[in-house]
Amino acid sequence: MNKPIKKAIIPAAGLGTRFLPATKTVPKEMLTVVDAPIIFYVVEEAISAGIEDIILIQGRGKTAIEDFFDTSYELEDKLARDKKFHILERLTQIRSMANIISIRQKQPLGLGHAVLCAQSIIGDDPFAVLLGDEIMIPHETETQNTLGQMVQAYNQTSHSTVAIMEVLPEDVSKYGIADIESTLTSPYRVKGFIEKPSMQKAPSRWALPGRYILKHNIFDHLANATPGAQGELQLTDAMDKIAKKEPFFATPFKADRYDAGDKLGYLKANIEVALKHPELKEALSHYLRHELLPNLNKKG
Ligand code: G1P
Repeated sequence: MNKPIKKAIIPAAGLGTRFLPATKTVPKEMLTVVDAPIIFYVVEEAISAGIEDIILIQGRGKTAIEDFFDTSYELEDKLARDKKFHILERLTQIRSMANIISIRQKQPLGLGHAVLCAQSIIGDDPFAVLLGDEIMIPHETETQNTLGQMVQAYNQTSHSTVAIMEVLPEDVSKYGIADIESTLTSPYRVKGFIEKPSMQKAPSRWALPGRYILKHNIFDHLANATPGAQGELQLTDAMDKIAKKEPFFATPFKADRYDAGDKLGYLKANIEVALKHPELKEALSHYLRHELLPNLNKKG
């Protein structure tokens, strides 16, 4: 029997330079998608997939993230006195979502190093990694969200497994890329991984969108790793070492994925979430259809 996946690492130590000047004082994970910060959607995905402990890897100036998942006594008291029970209930739900464990990554040495920072908390358990600026909106027809689909693949194979998505040839150099043995049956067996290859060197167009289920042996490879692409300790390089020694799997996930760490991805995530929001969907869709589109069409 596999040990259940109960712990997840969310690396959130990046400086968010793509969102400056906003991220000068606000962590990029706290930028709002409709009415909740980006990180809320990531934690919500983890919790719905059965995670109980969230290990946040943070840098300086990120305490707003852990505060968001904590009690705000004054606010809750005021909402109760004002009888604003609906929003009070939402705040109570958020702070009860998960145990949040926060670790400082004291130097910006890359994703592999961020994951290594959580080694003593993970111990011997298999665990999940969710990148803190990737939002996955589940398809209405799917019973599992993206991490849930990975957990299912892990339970089936008992080996490390990652989410993959097919990207355009010109985009392979932005991602970790999986070298897939065969796509006949999912989950696919992986032969190796390469971090941000050139279009010519990429073994496939199967990219890593930032959802991983890993076994604790990744820590041995991370502890002995040397800096890779961009001079950083790459999680992808450590996964490559494992895939070359033992079975490693990849699963094409079914969900809409938004890179909310990128301006366009962030805007798209806001629109998609708003189009599902009970208070906004009608008004926004009316605006998009009847005001924005006709105006865009007029301008050509
Ligand atoms: C990281 C990972 C990369 C992955 C990507 C997904 O890169 O190193 O393998 O494909 O996230 O967004 P970053 O975008 O942090 O440079």
